[in-house]
Amino acid sequence: MKHTDIVKIFKDKAFVGQSVTVCGWVRTSRDSKNVAFVELNDGTSLKHLQIVVDKTVFAGRNDFLPLGTALKVVGTVVESANNGVEIQASEIVVLGDCPADYPLQKKRHTMEYLRSIPHLRVRTNTFNAMLRVRSVLSDAIHRYFQNNNYVYVHTPIITGSDCEGAGEIFHVTIHDFNHKCKTAEEYAETDFFGRKAGLTVSGQLEGEVAAMAMGKIYTFGPTFRAENSNTTRHAAEFWQIEPEVAFAELPDIIEIAEELIKFIIDTVLKECPDEIKFFEDRFEAGLREKLQKVVDSKFQVLDYTDAIDILKKSGVEFKYPVEWGCDLQTEHERYITETVFNKPVFVINYPKDIKSFYMKQNADGKTVAATDLLVPGIGEIIGCSEREADTEKLLEAMRVRGMNEDDYVSYLALRRFGTVPHSGFGLGLERILLYITGLGNIRDVQLFPRTVGDLKV
Ligand code: 4AD
Ligand code: MG
Repeated sequence: MKHTDIVKIFKDKAFVGQSVTVCGWVRTSRDSKNVAFVELNDGTSLKHLQIVVDKTVFAGRNDFLPLGTALKVVGTVVESANNGVEIQASEIVVLGDCPADYPLQKKRHTMEYLRSIPHLRVRTNTFNAMLRVRSVLSDAIHRYFQNNNYVYVHTPIITGSDCEGAGEIFHVTIHDFNHKCKTAEEYAETDFFGRKAGLTVSGQLEGEVAAMAMGKIYTFGPTFRAENSNTTRHAAEFWQIEPEVAFAELPDIIEIAEELIKFIIDTVLKECPDEIKFFEDRFEAGLREKLQKVVDSKFQVLDYTDAIDILKKSGVEFKYPVEWGCDLQTEHERYITETVFNKPVFVINYPKDIKSFYMKQNADGKTVAATDLLVPGIGEIIGCSEREADTEKLLEAMRVRGMNEDDYVSYLALRRFGTVPHSGFGLGLERILLYITGLGNIRDVQLFPRTVGDLKV
């Protein structure tokens, strides 16, 4: 169907005076005696295109007015004081009508209600803006890495190892619900792969393999966690960006992470001004200024041990008590980023016992060369570390955690054949999207969220 994207008509003044064909869905409409107005949206812009309908030309017709109706409109582009441009309709074709029980009405619906209709909520302004920012953000992430000599690799979705060692793997099986076997081993051996398999929690381990040949790689794909965390920041399926960089130590990877975050936020600010303004008006006052400050400021680097000191001296009664060795809870992370520094903070050198097996052990014997990037309002958006390059130390860390060495044969082999210092991180796409849009719940930055106890098709 030959037609013009609505965004083009808004952007290019050369359309004024021309006849165009546009397609879209009715977002609002007003009817009066001599003239009707229809606001049409085709998804290419946040702003709707106003169609002006002369009732003397379209006498007796009102089939194009109901909300949600799909239209094809032919008309002339004219300048308009309020809208920049609008269309004087000469022909209207109803492509798909929409009955009165359409679940989206003119009023502002709650986010909770919209979550109950994921197949329709994409037609709201909020989801129009979110999906465009998500798309531009994803493109900016690729641009950053492609411009800096990284190779995009696709790591497997089905895997036999648990990267984070937290036992949050979704099992992959073809066995029937009543499959009978005497032992767990037999269950695995008679399954599709002849061994236990699951959905990946992270592409890191395979990413390291690629980095040991290609030097600088990144992954960008879905990861899965059967985490029983019913929060506004956790999803069972989320997208992760995981660069892995050979010859990089912790300070090098911190620099890369900071540069990436600034580049992608700057790109969204430049390429999605209407969407950011929309989110600022509707969801977070001062959003643009907050984001601009992130682009312009230097991120804080804070040793974990100093973070514990700050928390202990704060005089705040935290729900989870603070002691050296404890994992930082959201309340602690928020105190540090919001109350103390009011900007992104890299907390470095965590106690080794609360972190993953692959992290490089520091000379003090107690901590690892790892960092989490914490941001105000969200908490952790990046988990990062230098990797342990010493086979013996790696094996010891695995033994302490009761891990099965046989599942990590190729990972361990990397340490034997030309091992080098290397580092990487995982950035949660939805977490940074929450930060950029000011939306408060991870369920509202995904098309079809998957969270514990909730999977809508
Ligand atoms: O800190 P995590 O667990 O780190 C890793 O998976 C490393 N293997 C990454 C690496 O070094 N290559 O997860 C990384 C990021 C978190 O900082 C967070 O932004 C996001 O992934 N994340 C989640 N996002 C949404 N829902 C969840 N359940 C998430 N779990 C982690
Ligand atoms: Mg983490």
